[in-house]
Amino acid sequence: MIAKLRAAKRVIAARLRQARPLRTAAGHGRPGNGIDTVDAEREPRAILRQRAYQILEHGRRREPASRAVDWLLVVLVLANVTATVAHTVPDIAAQYGAGLQLLDRLCVLVFAIEYVARIWVAPEHPLLRRRTPAGARLRFAATPMMVIDALALLPLLLELLYPRNELMLLARLVRFLKLARYSPALATIGRLIASERRALLACVIIFTGALLAAAAAMHVVEGAVQPERLGDMPKAIWWAASMLAKIGGGELSPVTTLGRIIAAITVMLGIVCFALPVAIIGRGFYEEIRRRDFVVTFAMVARVPLFARLDAASIADLVGILRARTVPPGTTIIRKGERGDAMYLIASGRVEVESAAGKVVLDEGDFFGEIALLSREPRIATVTAVRPTDLLVLDADDFLRLVDRLPDIGTKVQAVAKERKLGPAAGR
Ligand code: CMP
Repeated sequence: MIAKLRAAKRVIAARLRQARPLRTAAGHGRPGNGIDTVDAEREPRAILRQRAYQILEHGRRREPASRAVDWLLVVLVLANVTATVAHTVPDIAAQYGAGLQLLDRLCVLVFAIEYVARIWVAPEHPLLRRRTPAGARLRFAATPMMVIDALALLPLLLELLYPRNELMLLARLVRFLKLARYSPALATIGRLIASERRALLACVIIFTGALLAAAAAMHVVEGAVQPERLGDMPKAIWWAASMLAKIGGGELSPVTTLGRIIAAITVMLGIVCFALPVAIIGRGFYEEIRRRDFVVTFAMVARVPLFARLDAASIADLVGILRARTVPPGTTIIRKGERGDAMYLIASGRVEVESAAGKVVLDEGDFFGEIALLSREPRIATVTAVRPTDLLVLDADDFLRLVDRLPDIGTKVQAVAKERKLGPAAGR
């Protein structure tokens, strides 16, 4: 009996959900998308927190509020670092000391508000939603960028506890690292280092091998001639390191012919040792930048309504397979009659679909280009960007694999495609 009641309750809840007007992240009710994104019944505080999260953490590239906050923080970080450096010049400190200090205080106040706000919105983070609010906040506080943000506030504490502190300058300049948050390219380098870790580890092993070999050879050949500099292995390793790192420098010149040969080989090894990791990172960086117009982030994918119910691991997989493409207004993304090779999800911006049935506008969170992939027939409409638009591109092969692996997504996409092909009546 209870089971029957529960089943009936589920059916009623599902019907109510269907009856509710469709809403996208942009807030429009519109036929043709079929996926509900925003929980309209959230309490005002939760809505405010979600909004603050979108501005602070979501990184909506085209949203003015998010951009304004980012720019304000970037300007304050730069101003603060410049003021810190200027303050070390006695003349400037004597003349503008009070003003620079006021600027520093103002920056710290804004950074403190920023820190508290980021911690407050942490439970909205897709990766942390399953935790309790306190757990989410604690976990979020331990992320590298939040640790940097906390360090940026440390000088104030230091100053209060020990007014004259030698470490103050270093502590203040840590604030420069806050800029890492605003550099997608830096995030790319971080990811590259992680993905190329095996090759980079091989470089470290090569470097260590070259270091030890050069040090041992020099110790054997010139240890007796220059005992104060090459008399033991630690001294010889120091010599080899300076030769490898300075690429030809080093305070100590070899005095024997064999020593000079070893030094020459060490210098050449140094060039190879430094060129290898530079080439690995450089090539990866170039390919990444060429492949992606912007960096696809976890939050960006988690925000797509189609993927809203996926677990963190599946979203992380998607981050790896989705390509990014930015198109200016007026760009034809899909042309009617062409063969379909990809499906598109709108990360931000707006497109217009022009089909035999008329024109339809699709916004952030919507997708298009699925029909040709499902039916393996030519595109049924032309899709043009009407605003600067960031797209997440899912190649045909990846799309079919995804639908195979996650049948729920396949069912949703098929339902939307059916409705679009046959008109809204087909969906009922
Ligand atoms: P596809 O045929 O692959 O390429 C054009 C796309 O436009 C199509 O897939 C759909 O994703 C989209 N499209 C076509 N008709 C409509 C519609 N009525 N509403 C929304 N999108 C549509």
